[in-house]
Amino acid sequence: MSQQNKRRILVTSALPYANGDIHLGHLVEYLQTDIWVRFQKLRGNDCRYFCADDTHGTAITISAKKKGITEEEFIAGVHKAHTADFAGFGVAFDHYGSTNAPQARGACEEIWRAIRAAGLVIEKEVQQLYDTEAKTFLADRFVKGTCPVCGRPDQYGDNCQCGAVYSPADLVDPISTLSGTKPELRSATHLFVDLEKLHRFLDEWVAGSGALQDEVAHYLQGQFLSDELRPWDISRPAPYFGFEIPDSPGNYWYVWYDAPIGYIGSTRQWCDLTGEDADAWWKDPATEIHHFIGKDITYFHTLFWPAMLKTAGFNLPTKVHIHGFLTVNGEKMSKSRGTFIKARTYLDHLDPSYLRYFFASKTSRRVEDLDLDFDEFETKINADLVGNIVNIASRTAKFARDTGLAETYPDDGGRFAAAASKADEIADAYETRDFTKAIRLILECGYAANKFIEQNAPWTMKKEITALEKAGAPAEEIAAARARLQDSVSVALNLFRQIVVYLSPVLPDLAAKTEELLGEKIASWEDAQKPLTGTAVAEYKYMMTRVPKEEIAKMIEETKAETAAESNADRWNDSGDPLQAEPLAETCTIDDFLKIDLRVGRIIEAEQVKEARKLLKLKISLGGGQTRQVFAGIKAAYKDPEKLIGRLIIFIANLQPRQMKFGLSEGMVVASGPGGEEVFLTFPDEGAKPGQRLH
Ligand code: MSP
Ligand code: ZN
Repeated sequence: MSQQNKRRILVTSALPYANGDIHLGHLVEYLQTDIWVRFQKLRGNDCRYFCADDTHGTAITISAKKKGITEEEFIAGVHKAHTADFAGFGVAFDHYGSTNAPQARGACEEIWRAIRAAGLVIEKEVQQLYDTEAKTFLADRFVKGTCPVCGRPDQYGDNCQCGAVYSPADLVDPISTLSGTKPELRSATHLFVDLEKLHRFLDEWVAGSGALQDEVAHYLQGQFLSDELRPWDISRPAPYFGFEIPDSPGNYWYVWYDAPIGYIGSTRQWCDLTGEDADAWWKDPATEIHHFIGKDITYFHTLFWPAMLKTAGFNLPTKVHIHGFLTVNGEKMSKSRGTFIKARTYLDHLDPSYLRYFFASKTSRRVEDLDLDFDEFETKINADLVGNIVNIASRTAKFARDTGLAETYPDDGGRFAAAASKADEIADAYETRDFTKAIRLILECGYAANKFIEQNAPWTMKKEITALEKAGAPAEEIAAARARLQDSVSVALNLFRQIVVYLSPVLPDLAAKTEELLGEKIASWEDAQKPLTGTAVAEYKYMMTRVPKEEIAKMIEETKAETAAESNADRWNDSGDPLQAEPLAETCTIDDFLKIDLRVGRIIEAEQVKEARKLLKLKISLGGGQTRQVFAGIKAAYKDPEKLIGRLIIFIANLQPRQMKFGLSEGMVVASGPGGEEVFLTFPDEGAKPGQRLH
């Protein structure tokens, strides 16, 4: 490709939420984007792939709280995990950033100024449920209650199983799922973007830009554009994990305002690292912008997003490539069936190349759901990849080990040329995201190559050479037979390499192994046009094995087990606040621990110390007539000391006695809690006896 028609292409995948692990459903998207990007790079285009974690919103705050860490710590951990998962599948971003980065904030502010200047911001009072215990406004999915239409209990804040859609304020007996308390209706001012003012622009863009699949354009026209566009609520009152709106203190941008701007933020992070010019990527009309997203987030990317870009003077998307959802074995991904499979779990059992290939073979330009049927998965990998493609190299390469490839490419009956002539059609299929077609065309090349190998049967040629050598045939005759073998294997390996060039966007691993085998990089789509000659051939190493069927079953079992463990951790909804308030102490040794003599004791006397604000005086028996007097700061928590008498407790029995104003304290009871009324003594399990030591 000439320098001059080299395209500059910016590509994004949706930013995965930072509150969960990457799973196979996500990979439908990230793998197809990666394949498309690798294809563009192979074509010589200046193509860059940006993504980031989507880090803001209430869900992040809740997840962080549960773990007892800050939001920043939480999203840093997720960033690490996501990056590792993507790397494991060969998803090669040019930059994987965060929506919480300063560059992202800068872009949010820049676009906000433009929206303000265009007079698009309106303010309105919004009634929202407020959790007085968790001290936060509640997003719809954190409220449950009885459906106001059919009376079904335990329904979500905005819709019911009966199909009714309502506002959480209409729920009967609403309960906050955060604290289990009854939320109250509070009103707050929210900022809205007046989208209706951009209606005409959106009509034209949807109908005429060519950025959308036809079915998507029709959906938008039918569902949204045929009516007045409702103002878009883009603010949330504090507390909210996100960016505060500079000219509206106490209000934060709603996560869906800053999420797509994260595409620009991530680009700018990359520009800061590389010295590239961010405006060349977002404001130069010659740059193409391609977004890959799932169907569930269509309207954010096809209405709000172009409206914001337009207003702020950024390039509009050249294409929004929208895909369907993943089903597994014909059904929705399910935790209980073990088909909600995490990227990490897959990687522990199966070769990522399998999934890259399988998804590619099922990717079309329609917004259809895609099924991962494990029988089909196995058959496809074994038949197409192992049986067809890899088979070309695995049964010929060893015959070229001694000789390398022929110095001049032999007459192959037009085979290489025939496959080379398919390059444009295959490229076109990649370009238009019809990977199913690309794969079909490539497999045809594979069948042709295998047919050639069977007709020439290099293994028979090899035997003939051995026979000639044994029979002491004339040297020229042996040399001629060897040359024939070298020629036929050179053809086979070149047909193989040509196929691998075509497949390399899908299978970068196979491409790398082929580079090693034939000692030559695959650097360009054009590499499929010219056979390799005269290079050495390395020892053949396994390129791909048949699908280990047992691993599929193991992966599903493991997923079921993970799900069970997660739901146990979730079951009690324990807050992480206490741990955050008091982080774990430094590691100690068992000897450190044994210095402290913890004993079971029975409280035999308990009374308030009148003159002391906090103290109870306890007499604790260790059995056998031995007792200790202990002053404990638990007066506010145990207002009725009588009730403690007779109970067993845990206390430190070898603490240096201390003379207090009211008497000698000869130990310390063990209790938890922040203090005041919230102090909780520790009681041993039933059966324990006074005097027993804790170890
Ligand atoms: N954070 C938003 C996107 C913000 S983009 C500015 C989000 N995150 S997500 O983690 O839920 O999804 C990320 C992408 O993965 C989305 O495009 C979504 O459609 C896609 N998928 C998530 N689950 C999927 C399947 N089960 N199947 C196919 N794609 C799926 O949405
Ligand atoms: Zn209902």
